[in-house]
Amino acid sequence: METVQDLEARYIINTYNRNPNETPFLIKGEGSYVWDGDEKKYLDFVSGLAVNVLGHCHPEVIKAIRKQTEQLIHTSNLYYTAPQAYLAEMLVKNSLSGGKAFFANSGAEANEAAIKLARKNNSGRYKIITAENSFHGRTMATLTATGQPKYRESFIPLLEGFDYACFNDLNSFAALIDSSTAAIMIEPIQGEGGVHVAEASFIKGLRELCDREGILLIFDEVQSGMGRTGQLWSFENWAVRPDLLTVAKGLGGGLPIGALIAAEEFSAVLQPGDHASTFGGNPVVCSAALAVLKLVKSEQFLQEVQSKSRVLEKSLLKMAADYPELVKEKRGMGLIRALELNQAVAKKIQGRCTEQGLLINAIGDNIIRFLPPLIITDDELKEGLRLFDQVLKEFI
Ligand SMILES: Cc1ncc(COP(=O)(O)O)c(C=O)c1O
Repeated sequence: METVQDLEARYIINTYNRNPNETPFLIKGEGSYVWDGDEKKYLDFVSGLAVNVLGHCHPEVIKAIRKQTEQLIHTSNLYYTAPQAYLAEMLVKNSLSGGKAFFANSGAEANEAAIKLARKNNSGRYKIITAENSFHGRTMATLTATGQPKYRESFIPLLEGFDYACFNDLNSFAALIDSSTAAIMIEPIQGEGGVHVAEASFIKGLRELCDREGILLIFDEVQSGMGRTGQLWSFENWAVRPDLLTVAKGLGGGLPIGALIAAEEFSAVLQPGDHASTFGGNPVVCSAALAVLKLVKSEQFLQEVQSKSRVLEKSLLKMAADYPELVKEKRGMGLIRALELNQAVAKKIQGRCTEQGLLINAIGDNIIRFLPPLIITDDELKEGLRLFDQVLKEFI
């Protein structure tokens, strides 16, 4: 009989580069752990790439999904449904303190909606300035917005009207603004680009620049939002509010969702017919998201994330101090962190960690990213870091 790996090799377009000898075949998850087909247990420091903020199969998420699936699964947006209205209210009240939401199914789609809104907002102004090394998605517009040539070069011609400035360099953004500029879009913490955190002066400066020039400031918090930094949204760390906020990943508790939240002033730019999504705002997904958001927005939950963030930071600092020949730099905030290595061994370290029962994520050849679930216990976090430290020692 053919294995799952055989079927995948034959029938799935090979965009993910999974390897039957190294990549776990996961069948079950609970809390901070997942299990493979041989019942081997892994501590999960990847969290479905920042999706499983409440860990795997959280009982409140299961309850919400179960209840909604027994009642109504899908209707289309021709009709009113309750969960999307309740979710929009909770999202808006807990983000930009006003405004309105649009629901899509992914981070890229949330960003597409933001790009369309920014272009329509000020007719004639179409240019969007993003940051080098950024990541905003894989659709044609968000791929063009992504400031990493390696993702773009096979797909030219790209969309017109995108420019790239240097992250954390305010002058380089200012220099690109002209009469056709509609918006500046950044991730306050660049995730896929290797976990680079915006400096306070940069992010405050961007706000002032956008106000002065009359252009929109868009924060892509697809990866950095939903409690990951110990604040519900990472922009709260700098007390700088965007005009448009995009969220996805952690919001749906593992179900696909993306949302654009537009501040009050810009919430009527998109009108009927301008944008839509068949599945956007689906009742089951929105019910799951409501359950997630209710838990994550609580002060106590966020304080616990902050305390776990200190454990992670201290441990990574120690590794950087203990292994200066291997660790070049530690970066990040909250429970989104990275170690940059001096050697191109990130993939090997990831492989050894997997063997030891720890899932971590290598970005490129020399960056290791840490994205544990936000519900991880102190003991689990310390255990994962102990396993990781042991593996690092093998590479000294
Ligand atoms: C900051 C950011 N924006 C957008 C995206 C794209 O999200 P999705 O894969 O859900 O389309 C990602 C995905 O990693 C991301 O990290």
